[in-house]
Amino acid sequence: MAKAKTIYICQHCGTRHIKWQGQCSGCGQWNSLVEEREETGALRALSRPALAAPTHPRTLSEIPSAEANRRLTPDGEMNRVLGGGIVEGSVVLLGGEPGIGKSTLLLQLAMQLSEVRILYVSGEESEQQIKLRADRLPFSNPKLFLASETRLERIADFIQEVQPELLVVDSIQTIYTETLESAPGSVGQVRECAAKLIRLAKEIDIPVFLVGHITKEGSLAGPKVLEHMVDCVLTFEGDRHNNYRIVRAAKNRFGSSLEIGIYEMLGSGLREVANPSEIFLSQHDEDFSGVAIACVLEGLRPLLIETQALVSPMTYGTAQRSATGFDLRRLSMLLAVLEKRCGFRMGAQDVFVNITGGIRIEDPAADLALICALISSLHDLPVPDRSAFAAEVGLSGELRAVNRVEARVAEAEKLGFRRIFVAASQVASLKKFSQIQVVGVSKLEEVFREVFGGG
Ligand code: TYD
Ligand code: MG
Repeated sequence: MAKAKTIYICQHCGTRHIKWQGQCSGCGQWNSLVEEREETGALRALSRPALAAPTHPRTLSEIPSAEANRRLTPDGEMNRVLGGGIVEGSVVLLGGEPGIGKSTLLLQLAMQLSEVRILYVSGEESEQQIKLRADRLPFSNPKLFLASETRLERIADFIQEVQPELLVVDSIQTIYTETLESAPGSVGQVRECAAKLIRLAKEIDIPVFLVGHITKEGSLAGPKVLEHMVDCVLTFEGDRHNNYRIVRAAKNRFGSSLEIGIYEMLGSGLREVANPSEIFLSQHDEDFSGVAIACVLEGLRPLLIETQALVSPMTYGTAQRSATGFDLRRLSMLLAVLEKRCGFRMGAQDVFVNITGGIRIEDPAADLALICALISSLHDLPVPDRSAFAAEVGLSGELRAVNRVEARVAEAEKLGFRRIFVAASQVASLKKFSQIQVVGVSKLEEVFREVFGGG
């Protein structure tokens, strides 16, 4: 095959170069040149594949509405994050750190869809390795075809040959096309290969799952080159030393990007976790100090999660602050509020914070629980059993409203909590709950009085 001419385009200013060079002579930016194929017009067409083009613009009302054609999978968590199953012809990018379980998740999904003809291409593992992994999973799909291949042109042939109803490519960074000279995994290669695969898939209207590695900077395939080309971006996260994994939709053209799916990694693959709250609450009978339960939202689902704090007099010249699963800057802010607004001497204390279950909390509704865990540890007074918290703490120590508070209270009630603390301003809007007492609080002092009795 004749090689198409390639050029190097600065991603910063757009200057074209015939040869690769470290610095762009147009704008002076370093390391900004990316190899691209000469026919930029064709390339542009590639990255915007076959959207059945109408011949003239139409008003919204002239366009007939068609429900996206979805295929429900046997995996309930996957259906949930995708917004109700796999949409025909859609392209899903699954990103995550190495070893988190991306290949397992997709292989398992492919094996569960036992009636579907699937082509699973791996550029990372040999057929033998995939087979070994498949043997551990309790599913089987006689119509699942495996191929260990990295060359894009060969993969295109395989698609012709197998005529799959679903394509999985693991991972897009290992695939390369002979039309570009840069190494597999470079921005030019990743972009070109993804565009080609997407075009092939749209032509025959099958869904595609692409695996993408997250780079050190935390972006998918380098500078987020793929995210705009695909319909749905899922990220797979979790702690490698912990068995729980969360799939999160970062972008979804066919559904909400708020949903999450939770799995547990077992020896026999990933198990769907139907009742997530229970796993994030560690089971213990005694009351410990330094523990408080937050009711946070993960996607649209309320979860009850244990926040733990250890506050002890500082051992070195400067106080240490460390947080696992919680934003360190937010912790510093909460400590400053305790110091300035409530008069606790936090400056002379080492503070360690941990969120159980390897989850990372971003919901500000966890503030109040964490503050209670801190004070509980500081004074060595346990938070009374079966109490939960859902309120944001403001800079003046006031408690602020959180969204979907009713769903949170309902979840806490369902799990047998006796009391939940929410911002006073929200109590009036809540319906009456029979099993759980909703305590409205507007200032931190009120919380401490209620929880620790005068403290
Ligand atoms: P893998 O899917 O290879 O991760 P990724 O593709 O994201 O790099 O899975 C990685 C880990 O999962 C690996 O350390 C082994 C473990 N594992 C299980 O615990 N149970 C299983 O059934 C399988 C297949 C893998
Ligand atoms: Mg893998």
